Amino acid sequence: MREKTNAHDTLPDSTVDLVLDPAARQALLDWYGREHRRLPWRAEPGGLAPAPYAVLVSELMLQQTRVDTVIEPYRRWMARWPTLHDLARADLQDVLAQWTGLGYYRRARHLHAAAVAALERHGELPNDPDLLRRLPGLGPYTVGAVRSIAFGEPEALVDGNVVRVLARWHAWTDAEPPTLSRTWKIARRLVSRPPASLDPSSWNQALMELGATVCTPRRPACLRCPVREPCRARQLGLAEAIPPTRVRAAVQEVQAVHALVWRAGPHGRQVLLGRRPATGRWAGLWEPPGAEGPDARATVAAWLAQNNLRESGQIDAFVHVLTHRRYQVSGVVVAAQATAPDPVALGYVEARWLPLAEVASPTSGMSRLAVRLCEGWSPQDLAR
Ligand code: ADE
Repeated sequence: MREKTNAHDTLPDSTVDLVLDPAARQALLDWYGREHRRLPWRAEPGGLAPAPYAVLVSELMLQQTRVDTVIEPYRRWMARWPTLHDLARADLQDVLAQWTGLGYYRRARHLHAAAVAALERHGELPNDPDLLRRLPGLGPYTVGAVRSIAFGEPEALVDGNVVRVLARWHAWTDAEPPTLSRTWKIARRLVSRPPASLDPSSWNQALMELGATVCTPRRPACLRCPVREPCRARQLGLAEAIPPTRVRAAVQEVQAVHALVWRAGPHGRQVLLGRRPATGRWAGLWEPPGAEGPDARATVAAWLAQNNLRESGQIDAFVHVLTHRRYQVSGVVVAAQATAPDPVALGYVEARWLPLAEVASPTSGMSRLAVRLCEGWSPQDLAR
């Protein structure tokens, strides 16, 4: 969920109805203590809280990304940059390269910029919500996560799971904006109310965990839910109807054509890569030179012709899907001549040769699409 404003306190208190009494809230906490997924960034309830930096890294990785996808990149990241200081000193290109597979690279830039800013301004990640909010990329959700999970403060957080869980408890059937403001208000009340055992870290994670594993968008598992009794959506038979399905934004179809220019290297084939500019999609990442749009094939053909190169084969076209775009990707295979063609003519900022065997390495600095492209071309070289 995108983080925007923090103006959630506009509703009068009379609209705040917590649905769950203290005993039901305790039942949810007990369920979380028993059933939570053991994840590398998560402490045991009542155990030592994770470092604020670890919470920042994991929560930024988890935004718009599935838990399963985050586990390995998180481990690699923490092994490479175990502290805020380590990350602040890291080179941005290395940081972007380590983000491969997670998508939405803006989060990696923000994480790096937040580490630099926090260290310069405060010498560490601060607990103060106003100071946290002024760091690059930290919105109300991330501030709530760092404060509650790392510092144990009674600060609320709301993500897509929390919106759905609270909408079902209250049987709200309306669409997003009013529900979001009510959700924040109620989430704030919940995190600071009895039972006495309520610790903000476990409470917030219990809400998200319930949404991720039981109170799922489709086919919620109400029979396994620790708070099914007070849940109004279940009482009314509305659990599956909440939240109402939204009409999805149209997905744009995009043609992309890339040239796999290769040469023989000491340890097998090498492929020519161009680095994308520092702004825009896949900013700063490497890929085989190519073009997008209806003229992509002609653009790449003209670039090859200017460099006296001729295609020697094609790779099987494949589809690569992003949230709002569907790429039809095709590639032409080209053996390099004595002088390599310069991808700058296609809008790249620099060029390099990479052994094909290193394409899938987390440090290659390539987008997932570019890795797939090379894998689809020469699996025998990649297997070396
Ligand atoms: N989703 C994002 N962060 C989470 C967390 N800490 N616990 C459960 N689900 C999450």
